[in-house]
Amino acid sequence: MYKIVEKTKIAPDIFKFKVYAPLVANKFQAGQFIVLRPFDDSERIPLTIMEADKEDGTIFLVVKTIGLTTKQLAELNQGDAVADLLGPLGHPSEIDNFGTVVIVGGGVGTAVSFAVAESLKEAGNRIVSIIGARDKDFMILEDEFTEISDEIYVMTDDGSYGKKGFVTQQLLDLYEQGRHFDRVIATGPLPMMRATVELTRKYKTPTIVSLNPIMVDGIGMCGGCRAVVDGKIVFVCVDGPEFDGHQVDFDSLIRRNNAYREIETQKEHDCLLDAQIAKGIKK
Ligand code: NAD
Ligand code: FES
Repeated sequence: MYKIVEKTKIAPDIFKFKVYAPLVANKFQAGQFIVLRPFDDSERIPLTIMEADKEDGTIFLVVKTIGLTTKQLAELNQGDAVADLLGPLGHPSEIDNFGTVVIVGGGVGTAVSFAVAESLKEAGNRIVSIIGARDKDFMILEDEFTEISDEIYVMTDDGSYGKKGFVTQQLLDLYEQGRHFDRVIATGPLPMMRATVELTRKYKTPTIVSLNPIMVDGIGMCGGCRAVVDGKIVFVCVDGPEFDGHQVDFDSLIRRNNAYREIETQKEHDCLLDAQIAKGIKK
């Protein structure tokens, strides 16, 4: 039973779940993820583990309700249990003393990079964090990142909090000030990661991205999560989820992710209709 021990709304449509999963918590290393189903008949979704508490056997997940399954998950509350949960999956992040590492976190992707940033800090790196959100209300985990960062820059698209602009604008500003970085870790929407790697390529900074494609089994059997990296097909669930960002074919990933948007919207509409019929609101 993977019981939800705590559920907190940390921004509009963004929830932080603390889930009792002792075996997963015990084995977890930064960068790994789980695949879960909220209900028995739900689809499986991959979620990166934000952090784990090995002492009390819990893991923390940050979820934005962007599709049917994440909305189903958000319906669950403290005391409920998710139908199943598999993990930890994927390779852990490479943790070493690289020097100065920039963490670029966009939107809900900010949560994904937290455990990696924390581990890199513990390994002796200087951490420069650039976190961004569309506006003040969507800004998440600023306090947590402030605690583990040597420098932090907070960006909003509309300038309602921190500095106005995308996270990549701040990274460019730092490069233009003559700063040198030993590594960049970028996590967030695909266009953000693509823009980050285009920039870091120019400055020859090794860049790691964490990919979050559609996944079905999460164990390398279905091919659902395939991506093209260095001209070769990889399965993100078993070969990743982190890759050398300069080798990732972002255009094909974006096309693939968009291909299922229409079906997802239709399915969401059908489920809503079923629920209304069940409640007698519609016939
Ligand atoms: P969002 O669209 O609100 O964007 C967040 C920030 O990313 C923006 O404030 C901006 O700073 C930056 N950004 C967005 N587009 C950009 C662009 N074209 N160029 C430069 N910077 C840009 O983000 P959201 O809705 O919170 O994020 C959801 C996305 O994150 C989903 O697409 C989801 O798949 C992805 N995600 C990725 C992972 C992962 O492991 N990589 C995990 C969870 C979610
Ligand atoms: Fe099936 Fe990766 S999710 S191969």
